[in-house]
Amino acid sequence: CRSGVLNNGGLSGKPAKFSVSPEDDIPEAMRDTPDVKPRYRLKPFVLIVGLVGIGAIALLLGMLFSRSQSQPPVASSPNPTTSSQTQAKDADQLLGHFTYPEAPTSELKPITPDGQIQLRAAAAQKFLDMSAAAGQAGVTLVPLSGFRSVADQQHVFFDVKAERGQVATKRAEVSAPPGYSEHHTGYAIDLGDGNTPATNLSPEFDKTTAYQWLEKNAPFYSFELSFPKNNPQGVNYEPWHWRFVGDRNSLETFYRAKNLTPPTATPSPSSTPAATPEETPSTSPSSTPVAR
Ligand code: DAL
Ligand code: ZN
Repeated sequence: CRSGVLNNGGLSGKPAKFSVSPEDDIPEAMRDTPDVKPRYRLKPFVLIVGLVGIGAIALLLGMLFSRSQSQPPVASSPNPTTSSQTQAKDADQLLGHFTYPEAPTSELKPITPDGQIQLRAAAAQKFLDMSAAAGQAGVTLVPLSGFRSVADQQHVFFDVKAERGQVATKRAEVSAPPGYSEHHTGYAIDLGDGNTPATNLSPEFDKTTAYQWLEKNAPFYSFELSFPKNNPQGVNYEPWHWRFVGDRNSLETFYRAKNLTPPTATPSPSSTPAATPEETPSTSPSSTPVAR
């Protein structure tokens, strides 16, 4: 009850003035009209809205969860294997050449009578077999270079580069930087034709009977040409440079993780004056070429 209304009706003797609703003067406990509060009327509505809302959130979460489950992992995150292989490829390449470890000295065997040219044991044996077979066919295979240390390659790449005034990219078309030569592995060999030494370390070597014999027969001894014309590494054509791929280690050495992409422009041998024997510095006698 409001105190002002009581005062007016009880003490002045005047008719009570109902400035507000009559029910205000009736004690609450005696009122006919139940005190229905809005919350009772809203409850079902709130419940329905709440349930619909919860359902909608659950549906949304369910859709999101099933979508993430059905997507292949590659689409949502980079494949770690592919990523690391790409990094390895980038890290292991320099100017079109791959990095190679030096063969352990203990695994090297001589392939010439003076012992100056060496290959890894398995490659050395196969080369000697191949050379003997070529000899029987009247072809003389002359080893020009086999295993080379990183220090050897330092001379072949940098000293000759400086001597010729070549920029690094030009030098790398015909020679591997130290640490990046197939010759470090002990599986690579440069070959000449004993009957035509003038073609040593020259693209003209592919006109010789030695080359033609090798082209037909080298695969039987697990040797292959490393840098054919238009090779994906972009290295100049080297018909004299062969590598052994006849056991697991040699195969892994040359093919593991080499995800090569063709170069945009490949030098053509005919348009390349470097058909010159880049292997042989002008100061070196032709009988002892400094092969790549
Ligand atoms: N002659 C090639 C480029 C090498 O040394 O690997
Ligand atoms: Zn070579």
